[in-house]
Amino acid sequence: MIKVAPSILSADFVNLERDIRKLKECGADYVHVDVMDGLFVPNISIGIPVVSAIRKITDLPLDVHLMIQQPIRYVEQFCDAGADILTIHAEADTVENNQKALRMIREKGVRAAVSIKPGTPISALEPYMELMDMILVMTVEPGFGGQKFMEDMMEKVRALRKLMDVRMSGVELGVDGGVNLDTGKICVDAGANVLVAGSALFKAPDTAAFIDGLHKLV
Ligand code: DX5
Ligand code: ZN
Repeated sequence: MIKVAPSILSADFVNLERDIRKLKECGADYVHVDVMDGLFVPNISIGIPVVSAIRKITDLPLDVHLMIQQPIRYVEQFCDAGADILTIHAEADTVENNQKALRMIREKGVRAAVSIKPGTPISALEPYMELMDMILVMTVEPGFGGQKFMEDMMEKVRALRKLMDVRMSGVELGVDGGVNLDTGKICVDAGANVLVAGSALFKAPDTAAFIDGLHKLV
């Protein structure tokens, strides 16, 4: 089953509560929250207090994507703020610290995930195989919404799908960046089961129909 995770980076921040409530009505599976620190990526978005506030107004699982340096420093706080899935980046710290961070996330009862940037090979995920509940393949350079989908990332998605079917049953495989109904189909065909979509989803004239369209891509 395909899961749709709208990225609220493209929501109307003045009306964030309205937009998040609408996502539930429209059939979204997760709420994808992009956290940026201005160091790991050249942009700053939202942080812990906003995650806590969102937690109060939705019972949809919060899928929090940390695009921050040395995420180990903050993972416990994001778990306490209400994350249900917490994603760190393989590139953001040493293997040892990232492994520790993933363990800390799971100890909090939160699902742990690792994301890789477009230039990072899937071999970078190898040290985390036993520690991940989801893998998130970036299909744009992290930092901004509204960028063009990088189809050449599908090679990684296909390779991961094969590997995961054999070694990691129950682990989810997500894609993030430039996903719309056309590129979403490419991702699903390659083996992704979680589709993060920001600008295309929030720009769609009929949000429910857009989410339904992604759900039906299988
Ligand atoms: C990019 C973020 C994405 C982004 C996706 O750094 O991780 O989640 O919001 O936005 P679109 O779908 O517009 O590419
Ligand atoms: Zn994201």
